[in-house]
Amino acid sequence: MGTPIAVAADLPYAPLVCDGHFGLLAAATRRQAGRRWRGNPAFPVAHEPDAQADQATPLHGWPLFAHRIACYTPAAMLHINDLVYRVAGRTLFERATVAIADGHRVGLVGRNGTGKSTLLRLIRGDAAIDGGAITLRASARVGEVAQEAPGGSRSVLETVLEADRERAELLAEAETASDPHRVADIHTRLADIGAHAAPARAGAILNGLGFDHAAQSRACDTFSGGWRMRIALAQALFAEPDLLLLDEPSNHLDIEARLWLANYLRTYRHTLLLVSHDRDLLNAVCDQIVHIDQGKLVAYAGNYDRFERTRRERAERQAALQTRQLAERRRIQAFVDRFRAKASKARQAQSRIKLLEKMEPIVPVAEEAPVEFAFPSPDKLPPPLITMDRAAVGYQPDTPVLRKLDLRIDMDDRIALLGQNGNGKSTFIRLLAGRLAPMDGAVRKSSKLRVGYFSQQQEEELDLEGTPFGHMRRLMPQATPTAVRAQLGRFMFSGPRADQKVGSLSGGEKTRLLFALMTRDAPHILLLDEPTNHLDMDSRTALVEALNEYEGAVILVSHDAHLVRLVADRLWLVADGTCTPFDGDLDDYERQLLGERGARGPADDRPAAVGNGGGEPRRDQQQPAAGPPESRKDQRRQAAENRQKLAPLRKAVERAEKELATLTAKRTDLQAQLHDPALYDGAQDKVRALQIELGYVEKQIAAAEEAWLERQHALEEAQAADAA
Ligand SMILES: Nc1ncnc2c1ncn2[C@@H]1O[C@H](COP(=O)(O)OP(=O)(O)OP(=O)(O)O)[C@@H](O)[C@H]1O
Ligand SMILES: [Mg+2]
Repeated sequence: MGTPIAVAADLPYAPLVCDGHFGLLAAATRRQAGRRWRGNPAFPVAHEPDAQADQATPLHGWPLFAHRIACYTPAAMLHINDLVYRVAGRTLFERATVAIADGHRVGLVGRNGTGKSTLLRLIRGDAAIDGGAITLRASARVGEVAQEAPGGSRSVLETVLEADRERAELLAEAETASDPHRVADIHTRLADIGAHAAPARAGAILNGLGFDHAAQSRACDTFSGGWRMRIALAQALFAEPDLLLLDEPSNHLDIEARLWLANYLRTYRHTLLLVSHDRDLLNAVCDQIVHIDQGKLVAYAGNYDRFERTRRERAERQAALQTRQLAERRRIQAFVDRFRAKASKARQAQSRIKLLEKMEPIVPVAEEAPVEFAFPSPDKLPPPLITMDRAAVGYQPDTPVLRKLDLRIDMDDRIALLGQNGNGKSTFIRLLAGRLAPMDGAVRKSSKLRVGYFSQQQEEELDLEGTPFGHMRRLMPQATPTAVRAQLGRFMFSGPRADQKVGSLSGGEKTRLLFALMTRDAPHILLLDEPTNHLDMDSRTALVEALNEYEGAVILVSHDAHLVRLVADRLWLVADGTCTPFDGDLDDYERQLLGERGARGPADDRPAAVGNGGGEPRRDQQQPAAGPPESRKDQRRQAAENRQKLAPLRKAVERAEKELATLTAKRTDLQAQLHDPALYDGAQDKVRALQIELGYVEKQIAAAEEAWLERQHALEEAQAADAA
């Protein structure tokens, strides 16, 4: 906080007026800033200045009330002060306050639907706030990814270069200007803004996002929607605004582009506000996290992991303090109860009653309600669910994307599809979903097969004017309204949320709606094409748990390696125009992708899974040599049983690990307190209490370790039996 230089004591709430910016923009400056933003596609209008304002007003909403003048750090880029915002009777922000200093890279996190995208909208001034103030540093340029992906016949590189409006305008003027002074000025300014290096800089950004040299000179409208979104992202990065707002920028990127983006943002020269559910990205980029927690904005120093740690420790400390306080209360209360009636002790009892009254109750940190999904398990069907016999699939006659597909899927299969972007993973899924018909060969499906299909594309197919209830109703025409609402309720669309317009749902909420629609008739197979993109971290965990409980087959496409590891037990590789089982695990694949084959001896001996060169796709190599159908069926049943058996064991190990971690953190905390020299200055009671507690925690740790070892042992034995 800056040094107060004046205190206006005669105002209703004595405000502190600080040196540096007041967070108030003179009307002229605001008009200028407005022009600048409006003129630039990468800087959409951040705020429509109030036409009548002839005196300074906060950038957003509120007129100049003296008590609204906030105290600013000189270097604050963004100041949110007592923000109140409601939508459809629900309060998203309730007196939320946070300051973001210039030059910081801040991760904005929170569960789906807590208001992250809304907050970005409020910062841009696209919606009116209900109270408080949002203030930007004077004349700061705000940039974001355009909502509309760029199209048209201009080349990708030109489109990105145009995002620097000033450069584009100066270059245009230089071509027509005749006044030699003006021409000189233009060239000086162009040199100042590094205009000549701009094409190289734009090219480097585009390259990082996956556009090679040839792609950069192609027209924008020759690219698909997903790639055009990358162009929009490149524009925002190239424009280098003072405050860059990014809302889930890595959602449509493959792993290489994600890595590049993380690296780029890590060294961003200005201020960044990044909304993401991607832990790796947040960890790599952010030096501060702002968490939307029950309508408040809470800032934490450090990256995402550190934020989680700090939060956990805070919750533990608070819980420990509460336990101690409750014990203290019980002790005092017992004294009071015993001696209240006794004349000789009545005074002490009275003073203790007062003590009890004075004790400020310590409330534990409120835990967020757990997220839970339930995917109804289907009735059993005789195997196989689907067989492909030399099948081919594609979009244009005679040019199949995939061919020679010789695969089968059974009910206990958990398969993840690998393969680089554009290889045809989604095409394969569409074939299974029946959205594409085979162009050649045959795809046979069990006659009673029900398929659940999820893809980002379906999000675009939702009727934005409709409601979740209306969507579900259409798909369950025979069901009663109660049954329709019950299915929605399983995915947290209860009460009025089922009647909200789909267009106003948040990204994660739309994903949840698609899950609800997909599982309405207990499908035998779930086809999941990038299901986690918009999901918050708790929902991702809930998804893994729901999939583990689910008894049908799962075919998964995901960039999220963690999810693939937790869900899939087999990998298929889509490459070289076909799909074949991959012989190896995800690590093998990543190594192979990075061209590090040979780093691990035994893997070298395996036949390469890519580069089949259009030869015969091999049958499933992860299966033991194909036996008679009956024994294969038995094996699968056995595998499913084992998986079911393993799930609770795994959970038990996880629980034991968690408990151990909690206790160890407690021990560290106690040890730290005992190492504090200040502790020994006061009464020794505290030291003794801490020592006793430490002894108790040590005992608990020993027991927890024992439990963990036992559970781990049981799990390993079960896994070994499974492998045998
Ligand atoms: N017109 C509206 N009527 C009712 N609710 C609305 C309306 N507009 C937005 N909401 C709700 O406001 C909440 C915040 O939405 P927002 O898009 O900001 O969430 P988010 O934090 O970005 O979530 P996600 O992580 O899923 O992207 C959501 O629950 C959304 O359903
Ligand atoms: Mg959002």
